[in-house]
Amino acid sequence: MNLSVIILAAGDGKRMRSSIPKGLHELAGKPLIQHVIEVAQQLNPDNIYVVYGRRGEQMMSQLQDLQVSWVHQPEPLGTGDAIKKVLPQLNSAHQVLILCGDVPLITANTLKKLIKTTRENTAGWITAFVDDPFGLGRILRDDEGNLQAIIEERDANVAQKSIEEINTGICLLPVKYLSKWLSQLDNQNVQGEYYFTDILSRALADGIQVITTQPELPEEILGVNDKAQLAQLERIWQLNNAEKLMQNGLTLRDPARFDLRGTLQFGKDVVCDVNVIISGDVTIGNNCYIGPNVYLHHVKIADNVRISANTVIDTAVIGNDCLIGPFSRIRPETILHNKAKIGNFVEIKKSEIGEGSKVNHLSYIGDTTMGAHVNIGAGTITCNYDGVNKHKTTIEDDVFIGSSTQLVAPLTVGHGATIGAGSAITQDVPSDELTLARTKQVTIEGWHKPQKQEKE
Ligand code: UD1
Ligand code: CA
Repeated sequence: MNLSVIILAAGDGKRMRSSIPKGLHELAGKPLIQHVIEVAQQLNPDNIYVVYGRRGEQMMSQLQDLQVSWVHQPEPLGTGDAIKKVLPQLNSAHQVLILCGDVPLITANTLKKLIKTTRENTAGWITAFVDDPFGLGRILRDDEGNLQAIIEERDANVAQKSIEEINTGICLLPVKYLSKWLSQLDNQNVQGEYYFTDILSRALADGIQVITTQPELPEEILGVNDKAQLAQLERIWQLNNAEKLMQNGLTLRDPARFDLRGTLQFGKDVVCDVNVIISGDVTIGNNCYIGPNVYLHHVKIADNVRISANTVIDTAVIGNDCLIGPFSRIRPETILHNKAKIGNFVEIKKSEIGEGSKVNHLSYIGDTTMGAHVNIGAGTITCNYDGVNKHKTTIEDDVFIGSSTQLVAPLTVGHGATIGAGSAITQDVPSDELTLARTKQVTIEGWHKPQKQEKE
């Protein structure tokens, strides 16, 4: 049967205590709602409808590239009302899968199982057995175990609250009966909301069989209603992911202290020390070491690279055999060619560092094209900004720049040039010569230290 999917995301998310819509809070660097949308896409449905609410414009504009239909629920009158808003767009020959935008760990495998077990003219419902059902809807059954209804925590009596079978909020329904069942919902409950969960008893009353299935993994049904649950799900996601990466050959010194907030491709013998954060799209070649507390965002790293502790690299390409850190900062649009070395307290921005060149200590290199086998002395600064415009520095091959040199851009240092330490260079530097730009050292002979004056 053809499939449509509805993702509910129009609630106010009050318990998040945030001005950002709940769906946009991030899990593993990706909006919660996007996790759910991507799982739905794996089922190849005809349509995915996302119901958004009062602050949904922000969600729509941030997620405009995703192929979904957005449906507005102006007031959060309950999950039943949210589904009513989609009803006019649903094809009555379809089955509709209801997902919650705040249940992001659900897997395609579990949903496929639900679809497989739900035959035509029946309904399928995912329930789960949990140790701590607090806050969740409970599944009511009669003495023979036949399904009866769902009761929300807030409407449940003490006996019902002890039931451990809970409603995941995920179900598969035949669209052709939906309009009737939705019209029968009322809001006579503690929250004064139209609960879509009441559809279960409506279906049973109409003699429609409801088949329950359970998730493959217990964490799949966990929802994010507050910041503590968001953190809890983040850890679960990260540990599951770390496990997969290790199975694929990544060495993690401690899987509990590794965070992926994007995608990671890696070769053989890559070691990540503790507290590595990978963000955006990162590729690491063979035989690389990523030290402790390293943050990598959109970085492409070739083979045999060593990145030492406390280094931050954002949007850069790193060649083979490079040595970086500890304490280096590499900013966007930087390219390090093979065997480049970037040391401690060095900042590189929008620059190309040639093969085998070294910037080992305390330097700022910005808007620079540097050739091969250049040695930059400690404390060298490219003065690339005049307060209004940025200017380029070119340093050709085999240049040696003495410590504490300022290169006031724009300028070019010719190949093989040597610049004496402490120079403030303001013009182009010729090739193969020694250039100095500093005041000559003088000694004042016969100079006396001032003496402390006697107090009167
Ligand atoms: C809901 C279920 C509960 C289930 C739990 C599982 C209902 C009535 N209760 O409770 O049985 O155990 O999920 O996680 O469905 N939403 C709308 N419009 C609204 C209200 C809510 O789109 O008017 C959306 C929310 O954004 C959210 C989802 O529906 O994504 C569930 O709403 P929420 O308030 O989080 O319900 P729970 O209390 O978690
Ligand atoms: Ca919820």
